[in-house]
Amino acid sequence: MKHELVLVLDFGGQYNQLIARRVRECGVYCEVKPYTTPLAELKALDPIGIIFTGGPNSVYLDTSPHVDPDIFTWGVPILGICYGCQLMAHSLGGLVTPAQEDTAREYGKTATQYDTSFPLFQGLPTEGISWMSHGDYMAKVPEGFALAAHTDMCPTAAIADPARGFYGVQFHPEVNHTEHGTQMIRNFLYQVCHAKGDWTMEDYCRTAIAAIREKVGDGKVLLALSGGVDSSVAAALLAEAVGKQLTCVFVDHGLMRLHEGDEVEAAFAKWDIRFLRVDAESRFLLKLAGVDEPERKRKIIGEEFIRVFEEESQKIGAVDFLAQGTIYPDVIESGAGEAATIKSHHNVGGLPDFVDFQEIIEPLRMLFKDEVRQLGRELGLPEYLVSRQPFPGPGLAIRIIGDITKEKADTLRLADFIFREELARAGEDQCLSQYFAVLTNTRSVGVMGDGRTYDYTLALRAVTTDDFMTADWARIPYDVLDRISVRIVNEVQGINRIVYDITSKPPATIEWE
Ligand code: XMP
Repeated sequence: MKHELVLVLDFGGQYNQLIARRVRECGVYCEVKPYTTPLAELKALDPIGIIFTGGPNSVYLDTSPHVDPDIFTWGVPILGICYGCQLMAHSLGGLVTPAQEDTAREYGKTATQYDTSFPLFQGLPTEGISWMSHGDYMAKVPEGFALAAHTDMCPTAAIADPARGFYGVQFHPEVNHTEHGTQMIRNFLYQVCHAKGDWTMEDYCRTAIAAIREKVGDGKVLLALSGGVDSSVAAALLAEAVGKQLTCVFVDHGLMRLHEGDEVEAAFAKWDIRFLRVDAESRFLLKLAGVDEPERKRKIIGEEFIRVFEEESQKIGAVDFLAQGTIYPDVIESGAGEAATIKSHHNVGGLPDFVDFQEIIEPLRMLFKDEVRQLGRELGLPEYLVSRQPFPGPGLAIRIIGDITKEKADTLRLADFIFREELARAGEDQCLSQYFAVLTNTRSVGVMGDGRTYDYTLALRAVTTDDFMTADWARIPYDVLDRISVRIVNEVQGINRIVYDITSKPPATIEWE
């Protein structure tokens, strides 16, 4: 069955995949294409609508990206966002100029008034916050267009030509900062393009499986499984697609949470694939012995992970494809480049040198985290794996402050398990983004029974956040904290004091190392 398709034409903006994701969220299949794609090729795809993205350029410069003008006589509805809006205005006879400081250069959250008689804004409040980021201004709108939204500074915040199905917005409806932004995109799809909404994750799953089968043929695929959501979902997708041709190497570095390794293994039991679990605990602990510097720990673990993987893959021999669970935010992050390294977040220390493969395959490259989780559910992965909170690649190594020993790892594992179990029992886990225990290397005096103790202090950390770039500490009820504290000091040897971390990020980070 052929699905309705909306094309996102990419002019180099930062939110292009986010637009695609919003469209999919509204039940319509969507793909991103470069703006240089020939019109005939776009027409062959037979989309029901097109979205022009934002971009860093100014349309009035000859060197800026433009489109084949015939796109406007094709008869397909177009939504232009930011640069895309200006491009439409410029191409259809309007005038776009640099904004003056006192006219319409706008950046950030901006109160915006909408004319809700236009289909794009149907059913919305007449005023809301929109996210602006533009230095150019539509001084004159093209013939046939009406003004559909304005701000205090800018009379042309949105333009509309309902007869042709052309809409342009200066702001970014795809970002969370724009109130009702998704509703605007939904309106474009359903009110303007008359979509039926025939797309689901089940379809995506089916399409992805077919695409993998076609690409892989009867080739062999190798995947390094870390136990995290991304590599697990990639593995499940490949397992479904090529079954026996897939080998998963699950490197168990011994720094996972309690029962986690067994859970991962159990989740893959239903597929007829080659699943190799490598128990490398002692090897990792040996390398980490005496190391207390966080970045060194990360580096050692990343490198050792690759070495173990290489050794195992040498036993397997040459493969055709090396699969990776790269997801879209990783693609953006690795492209960002400029930002200072606060912590090196790579789970693995780069690509293996000694694995004999011809091509890399990254079946999740277009998806956002929650889409990956949804796909995992579709593939029948258990909920404990799919909805797992983020867990750093280096695992408990960066939650044991100072040097790492097996004894400390076991102590932390048990304490962390009790913390999570009690949060779940109280129903508090549902409201938290990430929560875990940290074994500090501070020891203090306590009294237990009649005896003096001199044991470790355990820190509990629980945060709420949308993006993990900033986070707030969670207000866990005192009685729940109390139950956790009592259980841990009673059940876990070596801990006699519990503290709760009440710093947000910034200035602290989520992890302690
Ligand atoms: P921070 O501590 O920087 O953490 O506030 C933000 C998010 O990133 C996770 N994190 C890591 N993830 N490898 C990973 O895969 C790492 O080395 C690493 N360090 C931190 C952290 O758990 C949180 O979700």
